[in-house]
Amino acid sequence: MGYVRSLRCRECGAEYPPTRLVVCEACFGPLEVAYEFDAVREAFTRDSIARRPGDLWRYRELLPVFDEGAKVDLQPGYTPLRRADNLASELGLRELWVKDDTVNPTSSFKDVAVAVAKAREWGLEAVGCASTGNLAAATAAAAAKARLPCYVFTPAGLEETKLLLPRIYGATVVPVDGTYDDANRVAILAADRRGWGFVNINLRPYYAEGSKTLLFETWEQLGFELPDVVVTPLGSGLLLTSVDKAIRELKAIGQVNGVSTRLVGTQAAGCAPIVRGFESADGRPRPVKRPDTIAESLAIGDPASGHEAIQIMRRTRGFADAPSDPEIIEAQRLLARTEGVFAEPAGGTTVATLKRALEDGRIDRDERVVLLVTGNGLKAPSVLSASFPPLTPVAPNAAAVDAFLGGIHHG
Ligand SMILES: Cc1ncc(COP(=O)(O)O)c(C=O)c1O
Ligand SMILES: [Zn+2]
Repeated sequence: MGYVRSLRCRECGAEYPPTRLVVCEACFGPLEVAYEFDAVREAFTRDSIARRPGDLWRYRELLPVFDEGAKVDLQPGYTPLRRADNLASELGLRELWVKDDTVNPTSSFKDVAVAVAKAREWGLEAVGCASTGNLAAATAAAAAKARLPCYVFTPAGLEETKLLLPRIYGATVVPVDGTYDDANRVAILAADRRGWGFVNINLRPYYAEGSKTLLFETWEQLGFELPDVVVTPLGSGLLLTSVDKAIRELKAIGQVNGVSTRLVGTQAAGCAPIVRGFESADGRPRPVKRPDTIAESLAIGDPASGHEAIQIMRRTRGFADAPSDPEIIEAQRLLARTEGVFAEPAGGTTVATLKRALEDGRIDRDERVVLLVTGNGLKAPSVLSASFPPLTPVAPNAAAVDAFLGGIHHG
């Protein structure tokens, strides 16, 4: 079983063998993979990690795949952590980093190597997911490489590129006439009836493990240190719970001591069930029936890991924030024009939240901040088309070009 100890309930602590269970049989709480930390501590050293290939398997002792032959994937992970000095000075911040997952094989952080390896290990016939777009492309590409049939359930009204990508990779798209939550509901039924492995559903504890590597990478790339603040976009809330789990594991094996990284979550104001739950006394997500935002990837009205994400943001003294669509677009443009990184709206929300939080003091200008930029702007170009006036063609002669450039001078 490698370094895996069990599947453990996050609510009551009950432990189960690491099989295809997803919720606790005693209390219905979510299950997470637990490790034998004494053994991990020996093998997961800075020296051994540094010598490994540049993909997510460099953190293999804290990933739950036992069969090496099952790891057939596009080698996602180990994406650049870019120091963002231009954006930092624009916003008035001392030290800022952008974790650039726009450059992953399918252009988002979702590339699902761990969950699909698990499906292969168990000999499942097919894989799939319910998705707001990025997971669909990621699962489809991973399935193509692993030679597994793939079925993705998405809202039918998704951005065209996001519906096209999984089809290019050979998956069957099931365009559900409704919201993400409708698509997810029917995906649960389909997976259950056919015994298929659905990444965000019956493979969820393993899918979550793959997302931890964003934090492991960040820690390694900061010279084996943790930042003061990590800003994470929230859809279902799973990425934020994975980032927290990765930090807890680094602590459990003695790699980081006494650090208290604050975890900040961000959603678009037009679909902010986790943020509104964070602001409420009971800390329960406030489901949204009709999401209304350009940040389609985050448009999950009834987030499966929302309550946990809220508990984590509270425990780490972070906070939750929901910028408006115009603020998100402005932030996408700011990131692109200062750092040369074109993020989709989900990435824009992290920049917009940082800006707001510096203005009202929720983030201090001396804190070392990492923004998780989780998806590529090329996948959602239509949201920006209204931001720029149409281009008028210029005649191919010097006079016309001079007239076009007018009195522009630099320096
Ligand atoms: C680009 C991007 N960022 C962030 C998220 C949020 O992920 P999670 O559902 O784990 O909260 C998503 C989810 O689809 C996404 O596509
Ligand atoms: Zn339980």
